[in-house]
Amino acid sequence: MKDFDLRKLPEEFYQDPYPTYRWLRENDPVRRMPDGSLLLTRYADVSAVYRDAKHFSSDKRREFAPKFGPESPLYQHHTASMVFTDAPAHTRVRRLVLGALAAPPSETVEAAITARVDALLDAAAPHGQLDAIADFAAALPVQVIGDLFAIPAARRGPLRQWSLDILTALEPTPDAAQLAAGNQAVTGFLAFLADLIDARRRNPGDPYTDTLTRLIQGEGYDRLSETELLHNCIFILDAAHETTTNMIGNALEAMLRLPEARALLAADPEQMRPALEEFARIESSNQFGNRIATRDTRIAGTAIPAGTPITLCIGAANRDPAAFADPDRLDITRWPNKHLAFGIGVHMCAGITLARQEARIALSRFLARFPNYTLAAPPVRGGRARFRGFRSLPLALATHSHS
Ligand code: HEM
Repeated sequence: MKDFDLRKLPEEFYQDPYPTYRWLRENDPVRRMPDGSLLLTRYADVSAVYRDAKHFSSDKRREFAPKFGPESPLYQHHTASMVFTDAPAHTRVRRLVLGALAAPPSETVEAAITARVDALLDAAAPHGQLDAIADFAAALPVQVIGDLFAIPAARRGPLRQWSLDILTALEPTPDAAQLAAGNQAVTGFLAFLADLIDARRRNPGDPYTDTLTRLIQGEGYDRLSETELLHNCIFILDAAHETTTNMIGNALEAMLRLPEARALLAADPEQMRPALEEFARIESSNQFGNRIATRDTRIAGTAIPAGTPITLCIGAANRDPAAFADPDRLDITRWPNKHLAFGIGVHMCAGITLARQEARIALSRFLARFPNYTLAAPPVRGGRARFRGFRSLPLALATHSHS
């Protein structure tokens, strides 16, 4: 543990990072990495940095220029998307994005998600098994966000791979092939969106149901510039995919070991609301966040010079015993549950309502239909540190009771 380095993660870390997180939290909570950056693992420190946008910037231009190359599509994309900008530009863009995401009435979204979930379960049922990732958790968000943006069904195919390729480039040490795939994905995505936006401008949808039309038209007198529009569309489509997929997949996997919780949730879908927060806490689909110190400051007594890059370990903070009693135990009734899975502060997840709604409907309808599901083959982990989830989770959908 003493020579732990985020840039050289051992294989066991990808399987189970929690013993490492615990060691760091207990022995070196403000850990200096060989490259001079810091890794924070305590709840109090992680949440304090998230809440303090004045001392800790989200602007990644300095960090991404050497990582991606200042002329690269990845650099252009990641430095233009709202999550990696600061006020005042961020405040303005966030307001426009929140307005567009909230445009469709919640009942409309509820009905659309439910229809998508049921169609996926209908398709799997006759086979008696499914890969809970490919056939369910990953198939759903692309349809849900595709419906919100009114993307023609036949054109949704490449969206998931583009998203994965763009997000994978954010891993601590992407290799040349991952960088090339990420750059190609940004270029492909931009061309796709330019075409889609052009068609929507010529033939607008209803700004009260169609998120893309609302993003194009803006709120009141304010609207996104062309660059803001294109890169934030990419970002929203990316952010909506992998995290939600992993949240659903991680919860289905965790419940394999929790027959009582499954029975409770299948009998009372309302219990899914607190349960969701616990699934998000204990296996956070987004394990790391990043900030840069804007000025000389201190964290937990340690002096932090201006310009220090800081990695915020959400996965470790969410299992800090100082914030959560018995933190390694999954307790679906845990409440209150002040986890940091969706971040906190001015950049807190802008899609949190949609993410919760999607995961709640997906998990409750899955359980209502297949409460006794079992593992059909060993699950395969995603193999990434920042985005924690499964690549494959083969489940047998036993419909009869085992009791
Ligand atoms: C389980 C699912 C999700 C998780 C765990 C998650 C997690 C997060 C986290 C941790 C942040 C904060 C990043 C930071 O402060 O550096 C964030 C921001 C964001 N998320 Fe999510 N997210 C999820 C789903 C979604 C969905 C479905 C959407 C879109 C519909 C979305 C859109 C966004 C956007 C636009 C931001 C940037 C907000 C800002 O910079 O102001 N997310 N998300």
